[in-house]
Amino acid sequence: MSVDSDRRAAFPDYDPDEISSNPSDNRAFRDVVAARLSRRSVLHGGSMLAAAGFLTAAGLAGSELAGRPAPAAAHGRDRRRGKPKLLGFTPVAASDADEFIVPDDYTTQVLIPWGEPIRSGGPAWRKDASNTATEQAQQIGMHHDGMHYFPARGSAGNRRGTLVLNHEYVDRTLLYPDGDSEITQEKVDKALAGHGVSVVEIVESHGRWKVRDSWRNRRVTGTTPVTFSGPVGATHPALKANNPAMGTLNNCSHGFTPWGTYLACEENWNGYFGTEDPAWTPTPEQARYGIDAAGFGFRWHLADPRFDVAVNPNELNRFGWITEIDPDRPHVRPVKRTALGRLKHEGAYVSEARGRVVVYSGDDQDGDYIYKFVGDKPWRWHRFLGRSPLDHGTLYVARFDDDGSGRWLPLKHGKGPLTSANGWQDQADVLLRTRQAADAVGATRMDRPEWIAANPRNQDLFATLTNGTGWESAVNPRTPNPYGHIVRWRERHGDHTATRFEWDIFVLAGDPAYDPQVDLDESNIFGSPDGLWFDDDGRMWIQTDISNSSQNRADRGYDNIKNNMMLAADPDTGEVRRFLVGPRGCEITGVVTTPDQRTMFVNVQHPGESTTFWGTPTPENPRAVSNWPDFDPDGRPRAATVVIRKQDGGVIGT
Ligand code: FEO
Ligand code: CA
Ligand code: CA
Repeated sequence: MSVDSDRRAAFPDYDPDEISSNPSDNRAFRDVVAARLSRRSVLHGGSMLAAAGFLTAAGLAGSELAGRPAPAAAHGRDRRRGKPKLLGFTPVAASDADEFIVPDDYTTQVLIPWGEPIRSGGPAWRKDASNTATEQAQQIGMHHDGMHYFPARGSAGNRRGTLVLNHEYVDRTLLYPDGDSEITQEKVDKALAGHGVSVVEIVESHGRWKVRDSWRNRRVTGTTPVTFSGPVGATHPALKANNPAMGTLNNCSHGFTPWGTYLACEENWNGYFGTEDPAWTPTPEQARYGIDAAGFGFRWHLADPRFDVAVNPNELNRFGWITEIDPDRPHVRPVKRTALGRLKHEGAYVSEARGRVVVYSGDDQDGDYIYKFVGDKPWRWHRFLGRSPLDHGTLYVARFDDDGSGRWLPLKHGKGPLTSANGWQDQADVLLRTRQAADAVGATRMDRPEWIAANPRNQDLFATLTNGTGWESAVNPRTPNPYGHIVRWRERHGDHTATRFEWDIFVLAGDPAYDPQVDLDESNIFGSPDGLWFDDDGRMWIQTDISNSSQNRADRGYDNIKNNMMLAADPDTGEVRRFLVGPRGCEITGVVTTPDQRTMFVNVQHPGESTTFWGTPTPENPRAVSNWPDFDPDGRPRAATVVIRKQDGGVIGT
């Protein structure tokens, strides 16, 4: 039995990524947090920020963080040279309504719901889900997630640009007219077409945004031809499978590069594979990635041998990567950049330091790690030579130490324990088994690392740790940790290429009614932080992904928090305000604005998620949770992008 299977048996109501597949005895992040917080005297009555001392000179006396400027002054102005306070909107209340709720002085518009054709002549969406796989491949995919807006040049970019977004997974009950009954090849094909990435040019006209027919518009799906680059190149024996190299799957969050490309990350890809072969057992490497015979219940392997791990095991090695897509070159194959490691990549936060590209990525599973890739030379130099900056550099994994310091540990063949004598063949082997390499160097286990982002004003980094089961130890602030928290760190000298950092906790999420350590109130209680993004002013936007099982279970302490939401935070003051609440059963994920910050795009994923809780509530079906956004009694809920604008045309969040 794999570690996954054991944990799944112990936590039958939990989502697969809430279950650890990490058998190492590496120190859990919560143990480290506990050790650090235990030395702090104040946990209550002030934000964790102040409690942990990140902002106070006293808290880190003698460190490079000491002497940071004081928090915001009174009278609605702060130290940003007389600019208005970062957060100016009235917070919205928590809600369990089947609505998308924003502050009163904001407007919303639903754009590109699942199934909308990506070109005006494309196949129309049919509300009975009878669109074929071929049609789905010409329509917007299901379950919108990470997203970036590539603006047109100049001021036109505020009204026209290219939206690129991930489609994380498909809900089988919604995708097919007959729901989750017998699996067929056509059903697998439709599911694969519902996955991947959508690229659509959009334009604003008379206050409404719409898709514009463009040569850029395309879908990347689970069957789009792809190639591989970096140490695990396209011809590597581990990548030789029974079918051509194709597809990207379970694209959760994303990144974008300074050279104008989009990065789609592959997260819970393991769940699509399985087998009926009773003789098959996972290798240690497969078990470490959570591969087991049942998968997540998609059962694709019953119809399509591509996904049968006993028949086609190397297909597994083609997933777990970050996939680079050029929105301006639709005929170029997506490239999986193997130097960035093979894990369950939540996202890829790309920054630039000393001319080099740096890519941060969380591995979202209970007890897994935070990574970063640092380019070996200025990215422009690689581009000048016709090479990808993402193919040349070092991958590191994070260790968070008790004293508030941390180290980036290199995952480099021949260094530390990653030697030939220890069975590591070469750098390609290290990357194919990234998780085990990280185990070997002693990385710190975390409560499901999700998005990572840097404050543009001071380069502090933040990561959402969405929740944890309490995998390892009772000695920690929260065991289990059903609400999650946000960690912050500063690389030495603010240099993202550095190998040492100082860290602290920015906020503990949750409801003080259930956990008195939580310093939040009605205006901002939240849980399971996931999406994290900074706008150009330095507002931190926090999106939540409370699992459907938690939303429907009061004993998880989520009954006051209710539907998933997006909040805005001031990273200097620690102030947090709830900005929007999504419809029932959804997750809020993916956020970006136009360059003028006056139009925001936010994704609503899986409204009415699950196989039983969707439709319009009726006496016969009282548990139906969502029919957003069409509210058609014969329809079904659809993931969509929501365009948010301020009625006075102002900057979002002010
Ligand atoms: Fe797909 Fe980790 O959220
Ligand atoms: Ca996510
Ligand atoms: Ca999540």
